[in-house]
Amino acid sequence: MTTAAVTSRLEHGTAWVELNVPGEAVNALPPDAWTELDRLLGRLNRDDDVRAVVLISRKPGSYIAGVDIKIFGALRTRDEAHTLVRAGQDVVERVARMQIPVISAIHGACLGGGLELALAGTYRIATDDDRTRIGLPEVQVGILPALGGCQRLPRLIGVQRALDLILTGKSVSATRAYRMGIVDELVHPAILEQAAGAAASRLSTGWRPRRRRFNVAAWAMDRNPVGRRVVFGAARKQVEKKTGGHYPAPLAALQAVEHGLQHGIEAGLDIEATLFAELAVSGVSRNLVRIFFATTALKKESGVAEPAPTPKPVTKVGIVGAGFMGAAIGGVASLRAGSDVRFRDRDLASVGRGLSIAEGVLRDQHDRGRLSKHDFSRRRSLLSGTDDWSGFRRADLVIEAVFEDPDLKRSVFADIEAQVENGCVLASNTSTIPIAQIVEGLAHPERVLGMHFFSPVEKMPLLEIIVTEQTAPWATTTAVAFGKQLGKTVIVVADQPGFWVNRMLAPYLTETGRLLLEGVSAETIDREMTRFGFPIGPVALMDEIGLDVVHKASAVLHRAFGARLAPTDILPRMLEDGRLGKKRARGFYRYEDGKRREVDQAALELVNAATDMEIRREDVQARLVFSLLNEAVVAFDAGVVRNARDGDIGAVFGIGFPAFRGGPLRYLDEYGLTNATATLEELARTYGERFEPAPRLAAMATNNELFHPPA
Ligand code: NAI
Repeated sequence: MTTAAVTSRLEHGTAWVELNVPGEAVNALPPDAWTELDRLLGRLNRDDDVRAVVLISRKPGSYIAGVDIKIFGALRTRDEAHTLVRAGQDVVERVARMQIPVISAIHGACLGGGLELALAGTYRIATDDDRTRIGLPEVQVGILPALGGCQRLPRLIGVQRALDLILTGKSVSATRAYRMGIVDELVHPAILEQAAGAAASRLSTGWRPRRRRFNVAAWAMDRNPVGRRVVFGAARKQVEKKTGGHYPAPLAALQAVEHGLQHGIEAGLDIEATLFAELAVSGVSRNLVRIFFATTALKKESGVAEPAPTPKPVTKVGIVGAGFMGAAIGGVASLRAGSDVRFRDRDLASVGRGLSIAEGVLRDQHDRGRLSKHDFSRRRSLLSGTDDWSGFRRADLVIEAVFEDPDLKRSVFADIEAQVENGCVLASNTSTIPIAQIVEGLAHPERVLGMHFFSPVEKMPLLEIIVTEQTAPWATTTAVAFGKQLGKTVIVVADQPGFWVNRMLAPYLTETGRLLLEGVSAETIDREMTRFGFPIGPVALMDEIGLDVVHKASAVLHRAFGARLAPTDILPRMLEDGRLGKKRARGFYRYEDGKRREVDQAALELVNAATDMEIRREDVQARLVFSLLNEAVVAFDAGVVRNARDGDIGAVFGIGFPAFRGGPLRYLDEYGLTNATATLEELARTYGERFEPAPRLAAMATNNELFHPPA
């Protein structure tokens, strides 16, 4: 079992402590491995033959990815959490107090507890490899770095830079970590051990690295209580603005850093432990951990029932329709999967526009320092385009992204089918049209599916893959594997109008329209939903998506599902006035330099909504949230998603449903299905039949069932 997680060997006075958690892809250490490490370090510290210790991983591509998150899920009380974190702190403090130098030789993910361990040591060497990532991602699962990370990182690299990592949970490359001063030495993976051995010898003779003072002004600011207050005040404001008060972890981390700087490391560790214990057993952290697990599980799934056919490798991608979406999909395919991308559009001018959008995706990465000049040129050379079908014959996957028009899509698919070979997968990026309609008349419908990307493609993490009853498992696994290569979280959904994400969005945006018509101001609506935890309110969201797109999609869903989803006439009115939303800098909001400003009063006059009607705040929130929740249940009942987990992930990553609430189905479980049924009945009495509780919801409430039954 875990006895093999920590081993050591002695070579010329250097003890090599090797970490390798058996049976796992990453070195996320379980508690007994920490205990073992603690004992071993104690022994080495007392051993006169040992003059230095090197901590190194034997797990390919993973240094130490922190503490095993599974453990948090099992914590029941604050006391348990407190005991656990104290035990971890003891190991890290032992490293800090060792009489002999401790060197971390880092290759692969060095995250969370892994970095905290390395920070407590004397010296850090990292490989300049893409897999080496360094960071403290704790806040992303609702906790804070509590093994001294909030103490040692600011002392090493300065408060501001440390906060940038701690408060966002983002990780950085080894090169960046070196520049920031977290890492002392940067080496090629092939010579990591050699360099670590050499460092051990140097350090054991008393040599110490001379650390560059990161920035004199910043250092002076950190040491000065007034300066510190300014830095912390600004950081606190920024966090509050970003989290809307829904995510307590970043604020707790801020408190731990500040307290530690004022009162010393020991006091800092005490507060880290106390705050960790509170956060780890909170509902917010539990839900964030669940989302983390769901995402990790989805990364391992093939998208079909096992045994799954092996996905076909996708090296050549054809894209038909090099518009806003097609071009960005092509750019991301060359960026993330290194695919050879061939665009086709109606004319060369459109192809040219598409190519420059795709290139823009690459350039943006280059400008942010995430893509070297060499990789940028190499990937750009993978992009090409045409107004005929040349270059499509050998495609492994063709993605269609022409206008949202069923007849057009059908004829485009017939053309594609005539061009490509039999093993090629054909995908549509339609947002609403059932794939079954698109495949009508095709000779090989079994290789057709939907790949519904979200805008902006390079940022949005979700990909919905839509399978029909005819779609062959090999086509699904190929599309799923390719989606994962693009860095997406992929959910496989059934071929029903609106699929999963747009299905939930439809009643939510329709209800928004009703509220506007009733005179509730756009500000009130958007504020209520951001208060609930959405990153952006529904009025602003419509502007983002494009009012023409929302209008088209809601018409499709209305036709499919009837009166429940009947839209108002506000979108046609807006469209008549040339208001297409953000893309035309004219929508419900005003736009300047591509940025959303205040609500456009002229737009509100168009929809008869100039005055703020007296309507209870709670009612605005309830009407919007429950229209979405109720539809989620109807769609779930109709088998649109394979399970509640996928449904929740789709909502969190596709429409920004608040992650801390776990997703719509988890939220319903927590709200109580009986309570939810009662709320919907009340809304139905006041506002109409569209709020009649989904039959499945009422039935589950009666039978005391849950969407996520306890394991
Ligand atoms: P767009 O209008 O920017 O691009 C469509 C492109 O298709 C244009 O470049 C057009 O010249 C080209 N085209 C039209 N007919 C063609 C033909 N017969 N052969 C080759 N090219 C042809 O539209 P957008 O926004 O990129 O949408 C494309 C598809 O993606 C639609 O099905 C839409 O529903 C879907 N979608 C759009 C999202 C969005 O946020 N805009 C999000 C997700 C899906």
